[in-house]
Amino acid sequence: MKRVVLSGIQPTGKLHIGNLAGAIRNWVRIQDEYKCFYMIADLHSLTAYSNNYKEIKENVLDIYIDLLACGIDLSKSVLFIQSEIPAHTQLHLILSMITPLGWLQRNPTYKEKIIEMQDKDLSNYGFLGYPVLQAADILIYRAEKVPVGQDQVSHLEITREIARRFNHFYGKFFPEPEPLLTTSPKVLGFDGRKMSKSYNNAIYLADPPEEVLQKVKKYVTDTKKVYKNDPGNPEHCSVFPLYGIFAPEDETKQVDKGCRSGQRGCVDCKKRCAELIMESLKSYREKRQYYMKNINELKKHIKENNEKAQAVALKNIREIYNKVGLIYG
Ligand code: TRP
Ligand code: SF4
Repeated sequence: MKRVVLSGIQPTGKLHIGNLAGAIRNWVRIQDEYKCFYMIADLHSLTAYSNNYKEIKENVLDIYIDLLACGIDLSKSVLFIQSEIPAHTQLHLILSMITPLGWLQRNPTYKEKIIEMQDKDLSNYGFLGYPVLQAADILIYRAEKVPVGQDQVSHLEITREIARRFNHFYGKFFPEPEPLLTTSPKVLGFDGRKMSKSYNNAIYLADPPEEVLQKVKKYVTDTKKVYKNDPGNPEHCSVFPLYGIFAPEDETKQVDKGCRSGQRGCVDCKKRCAELIMESLKSYREKRQYYMKNINELKKHIKENNEKAQAVALKNIREIYNKVGLIYG
């Protein structure tokens, strides 16, 4: 029996190459080794978009296509939409009864997000409970591994504590899930900040080739390398990490050498970088176009996958209700 993995992504924007290098490549890579459940966490997005969810609703189908086009394989993994599986919210309620407020109030991402997203009203009960819903997502499938980035580690810590507490109160049922961390270089946007939809600095997977090139051209390179033949330092250049993601290892080494020795100019270096990104997105683009033309097939996949997730979640929520004592006749 393969071990169970669960992970989720919020539908707050279409996918960019930072998502690809961070989470999604990892999701694709582990599909043979684990029984993977991947979901679009639309309920989590309600925490920040409760009164304007329509703004991001379209992203759900778009991200579903993006994930298939990146290589999520439905013959191996289950790819579903969180809100379609009622057991997530049922378990969320049960877990909320055994989660001490202090665990949530101390959660570092809670404090950070309140400061970071001042344009959103986050002073609500649902937002404080964000990690409880995340725990329910994971535990309803009794997942043991959760591929996430470093930013989610504190949520997983809370998930483990909740699982432990449930097992202690009602008898062992949940594993204590561990993160499967991705170690990928940090992808910067073309303004030098972390690549993010909200900074408007991202290269999207669905960007047409000309746009990829335009965006790569905007990147800041080593500012000490003024003329083409000045030696540069790749560590001070935000284009260089993109080679780490999209180029074969020997080519990345060559770039490093050529930059340091002054043989390589930034204009050509950027062109080549854009070319590599476009090459590696080629099959993505073809698959995306296919699904855009075959929306009915896509909808059939979504329905079937929601049903697969539902079957597992329903069986488990019955057992959970049983353990808690919620059984009548
Ligand atoms: N909180 C995650 C994020 O913002 C998304 C998410 C929701 C998730 N439920 C999950 C990730 C369960 C892993 C497991 O990235
Ligand atoms: Fe960056 Fe390439 Fe210019 Fe070196 S040559 S600074 S790696 S863009």
